[in-house]
This record gives sequence, C-alpha cells and structure tokens, in this order.
Amino acid sequence: MTNEAPANIETRVVEDKDLPTILSIYAEQVLHGVSSWEETPPDLAEMTKRRDGIVDAGYPYRVAVRGDEVIGYSYASAYRPRPGYRFTVENSIYISQTARRSGCGKLLLADLIEVCTAQGYRQMIAVVGDSDNAMSIDFHLKMGFEHVGTIKAIGYKFDRWLDSVLMQLPLGDGSQTTPSDGT
Ligand SMILES: CC(C)(COP(=O)(O)OP(=O)(O)OC[C@H]1O[C@@H](n2cnc3c(N)ncnc32)[C@H](O)[C@@H]1OP(=O)(O)O)[C@@H](O)C(=O)NCCC(=O)NCCS
Repeated sequence: MTNEAPANIETRVVEDKDLPTILSIYAEQVLHGVSSWEETPPDLAEMTKRRDGIVDAGYPYRVAVRGDEVIGYSYASAYRPRPGYRFTVENSIYISQTARRSGCGKLLLADLIEVCTAQGYRQMIAVVGDSDNAMSIDFHLKMGFEHVGTIKAIGYKFDRWLDSVLMQLPLGDGSQTTPSDGT
C-alpha cells in the first residue's frame, strides 16, 4: 500500500457544511451503482441523522477536500451491534465520480485506517456490493484487504441478484495481542 498524497487533496473531520455534497456523492451510487443497496436517496435530514449516529457512537467520519470542494467521504461504523464485535469496524468510502482514479480513495481510506487503528480497533471489514464490482474489490485489494468470503445472491437491485463480498484488513496488532477495552 502506498500512501503518497495526491496534489491538493487533504483529509479532515466532517463538518455540517459538507453534508449536501456528501449526499449528492452518495445519491449517485444509490441511483446508479451497487455499492449501496438503497434504491431511493435519503434526504439531507436523514443523511445528517446517520452522520450524527456514527459520530455520537465514537466512530470517525472524514472527508477529502480539494480547496473548498468536498470530493469524497469515509466513515467507520459497527460491523455488527453485539458487544463481541466491538473491536471490529466496517468501512464506507465514496469518492465523487469526477474525482475518481486520482488517488483520492487511497488517501481517504489510508486516513480512515490510521484513525481507526489509533482508536484501538483491530479489524476492518469491507462489505462490497457485488462480485462484479472490480472497482471496489481491486481498490480494497490494493489497500491490503484480503478477500475472506462471498455471500452469493443475497441482494437484488437493478433487476439482478447481487453478491456480498467480504474483505478484511487487520488493524494494528490485529489478533496478535489482547485488545484494550478503552474503545
Ligand atoms: C472505490 C473507490 C472508493 C476508489 O476510489 P478512487 O479514488 O477512485 O481510487 P484511487 O484512485 O485511490 O485508486 C486506488 C486503486 O484502486 C483500484 N481501482 C480504483 N478504481 C478502479 C477501477 N475503476 N477499476 C479497477 N481498479 C480500480 C486500483 O488498484 C487503484 O490503483 P491504481 O490507480 O494505481 O491502479 C471509488 O471508485 C468510489 O467511490 N466508487 C463508488 C463507491 C464504492 O464503490 N465505494 C466502496 C464501497 S465498499
């Protein structure tokens, strides 16, 4: 995994003013992609509520900006809600269509991995929408994730069955040491 930063792109914590752009980036995938299996884009109030839920639970929610323009966002959330999963996060990352393939995703996910590791999480799981999604699968492989499983035909969108592809990245010591319960 290389971490060289693309020119003029920075990452920071999400702010309220970013949410309309975040919503439009997400809506494009809801309407045209299979990364999200929602079929109708949420409104701004709902997107804000979701962000608040993630941040209030202590998970990182970050954006990539070029100048004043938000060009991508990422966050971590609980992989599953039961306490035994508390050292594991699921990642979400969306880059605006016009900023893709310029290293922004790599920068933003490296940043999320660093923040999650610092917070004491030990595993990151990517739940990739569909086996045909080379964009997302190759991206996560490039970032060091391993393909650990596929749940076949568990989703249905755009009149076709979709697989859930599970990819995993150990964070920090992974399972090599006992975790600290400070998270
Ligand atoms: C997947 C996504 C986050 C990648 O972000 P990005 O900024 O376009 O990717 P980067 O420029 O950082 O690319 C990093 C690596 O990912 C892989 N990659 C990125 N886009 C790819 C594509 N369309 N096809 C194949 N591999 C791709 C490549 O290995 C690339 O390295 P390279 O350019 O040196 O070959 C972005 O395309 C996106 O937002 N897609 C829609 C939403 C989505 O699928 N999110 C993931 C949800 S699990």
